[in-house]
Amino acid sequence: MGKKVWAMFFSGTGTTEKVVTAISADIAAATGFEMETFNFTQPKNRLIPKEFTCEDIVVLGTPVYAGRVPNVLLKYLNSVKGNGAIGIPVVLFGNRSYDDALMELRNIMADTGFKPIAAGAFVGAHAFSYTLAKGRPNSEDMEKASLLAQKAAEKIKSGSLGNVPVFVKCNDPIGPYYTPRGLDGNPVQILKVRPLTNDKCDNCGICAALCPMGSIDPLNCKEYIGKGICIKCGACVKKCPKGAKYYTDEGYLSHKAALEKNFSRPAEVEIFY
Ligand SMILES: Cc1cc2nc3c(=O)[nH]c(=O)nc-3n(C[C@H](O)[C@H](O)[C@H](O)COP(=O)(O)O)c2cc1C
Ligand code: SF4
Ligand code: SF4
Repeated sequence: MGKKVWAMFFSGTGTTEKVVTAISADIAAATGFEMETFNFTQPKNRLIPKEFTCEDIVVLGTPVYAGRVPNVLLKYLNSVKGNGAIGIPVVLFGNRSYDDALMELRNIMADTGFKPIAAGAFVGAHAFSYTLAKGRPNSEDMEKASLLAQKAAEKIKSGSLGNVPVFVKCNDPIGPYYTPRGLDGNPVQILKVRPLTNDKCDNCGICAALCPMGSIDPLNCKEYIGKGICIKCGACVKKCPKGAKYYTDEGYLSHKAALEKNFSRPAEVEIFY
């Protein structure tokens, strides 16, 4: 088996997929290695035990949820075996902050047998909003993704990988999960909130096929199945061709409005190598 660059990601609304795929493609082009994709957004793909070798370069991306790596992914991510593969952790955040998510993902990679040599926190359209970080990652963000890929490829080609995981800017030790707050500044409880469905729905099944928690009933997409867990990833809301999914929860809507009000400035991409 030859050397391979892996684009490996979880991505509800596609921003993580876009950045991870671009970085992987650029590293593959710069090194001449083959590229392969492993998308673990769907629950069935998180049942596949994933193991790499020291021949692999793995660009691993997740969105930032509550300032951290989405906690529903932790069990799966900790089961992946790096076996000495080169790792490039990447997180996408919706213009508020990536807090400690990049550090957390880097540490998970180091603890599971990867050598993290470069890392990046990128900005993506916020899953809750149609205005917050609209259009991100934009062309400037993608230039930073190219730069990160170029720097990683240089390290790989020169063999100067270093003995410690790449430095990333975050709290050490990692802080608590971010508390969502409403417009009045008080915490809101949104754990059990999930989208409703209006009559524009024609039961096409797209949302059920996309839901990363497998929670939407494919036979009746207005209903939830299993434990009905919703991580508010935005996939069903943003990708429904009829615009039929929506939220009514007051706490959720107030939190979304607070984010749009308080975090409208364009956040910066940060890359480390
Ligand atoms: C449950 C949840 C929590 C989030 N928490 C944060 C956060 O703490 N900081 C932030 O800037 N963006 C946050 N976001 C926004 C996502 O990080 C952002 O939309 C990201 O680009 C989504 O990636 P995807 O398109 O690959 O799904 C959150 C989104 C969701 C669904
Ligand atoms: S994607 Fe939209 S129209 Fe299709 S089943 Fe889901 S809610 Fe209904
Ligand atoms: S039901 Fe929740 S978890 Fe499933 S796709 Fe919709 S927002 Fe995401």
